[in-house]
Amino acid sequence: EMLEKGGYDHFMMKEIYEQPRSIRDCMRGRIYPQKGLVQLGGIKDYADKLKNIDRIIIVACGTSWHAGLVGEYLIEEYARVPVEVEYASEFRYRNPIITDKDLVIAISQSGETADTMAAIELAKERGATIFGICNVVGASIPRLTHAGVYTHAGPEIGVASTKAFTAQVTILTLIAFYVAQQRGTITEAKLVEYLTELDSIPALVEQTLKANEQIKIIAERFKDSANCLFLGRGSSFPVALEGALKLKEISYIHAEGYPAAEMKHGPIALIDADMPVVFIATQNSSYEKVISNIQEVKARGGHVIAIVSEGDTTVKDMAEYVVEIPQTAEAFVPLLATIPLQLLAYHIAVMRGCNVDQPRNLAKSVTVE
Ligand code: G6P
Repeated sequence: EMLEKGGYDHFMMKEIYEQPRSIRDCMRGRIYPQKGLVQLGGIKDYADKLKNIDRIIIVACGTSWHAGLVGEYLIEEYARVPVEVEYASEFRYRNPIITDKDLVIAISQSGETADTMAAIELAKERGATIFGICNVVGASIPRLTHAGVYTHAGPEIGVASTKAFTAQVTILTLIAFYVAQQRGTITEAKLVEYLTELDSIPALVEQTLKANEQIKIIAERFKDSANCLFLGRGSSFPVALEGALKLKEISYIHAEGYPAAEMKHGPIALIDADMPVVFIATQNSSYEKVISNIQEVKARGGHVIAIVSEGDTTVKDMAEYVVEIPQTAEAFVPLLATIPLQLLAYHIAVMRGCNVDQPRNLAKSVTVE
């Protein structure tokens, strides 16, 4: 088993560190930055169909659902198609309205999640086109769908999903650009620019992982907290949800992810001197707004840990701890900002003596309702 863990103490850590490679593997043969071209062989037969869809419905569970939320931002921004993101378990029992102009994208690491499979079957019966985004080749979901794109992240052993999440987000980014390409909502010049940047993401993830030692110090400081809040705006909101999920899954600390602006409608009541609040505060379109949210937390005595863009000084002056991530296009921030949150959850769980790879009560794939 030591061998399988590749020298790491846990599969989760090994899988966190595999991300530069797994993201690269996701993109291999699929992006051509100089040409401004995305090619997705698994869905190419539906390229024309994509010109005529009215809506995209993403169905998934758990971490895969969080990836779907990031996908919603990307697809709406670049492909200009309305997107809904549904928990598979809710969707399937809701008598949803589906037509043959809907494209359903089912996301599942394992490809075996019972609720996601049932959602696919229902949407299929009602005439939708179904794409899958799966990690396990030949699993049940890829066999149920009309077409799909594999994540190729390699086997994920840790129950808490890490590299599968960033792989799903990468594929959703490619799908967003692919649909945009088909529908003519993005120029070739823009695609050249974005794909060139996307191509550099594996190296930037590598750089982000260097924050590990610093994150250990933050983990040491907050490992005994009873609660933790994660806040972000835009596509960093699902990153906040995912950061909170990681922490609660493996460390058993109660954690919640919230859109930063919603904080004042509830979670703000919880903030006191015992409450760490993790902000994703990178320099993008909502930066100024996030700064004012940070001030609100500080004013109530909360402890601010901020994920910031490299070179940031404003947030650095306000937060108790900052973790820098490399500058990148707003669209790709989730791929980088997720990394420190995975590491934070990991170190806190290890320090609390938890079974990181096999947390209590959780299963790697949930094949029952
Ligand atoms: C379980 C796993 C999660 C996963 C979820 C969905 O809860 O513990 O890590 O996100 O199922 O699984 P799927 O294989 O469909 O992505």
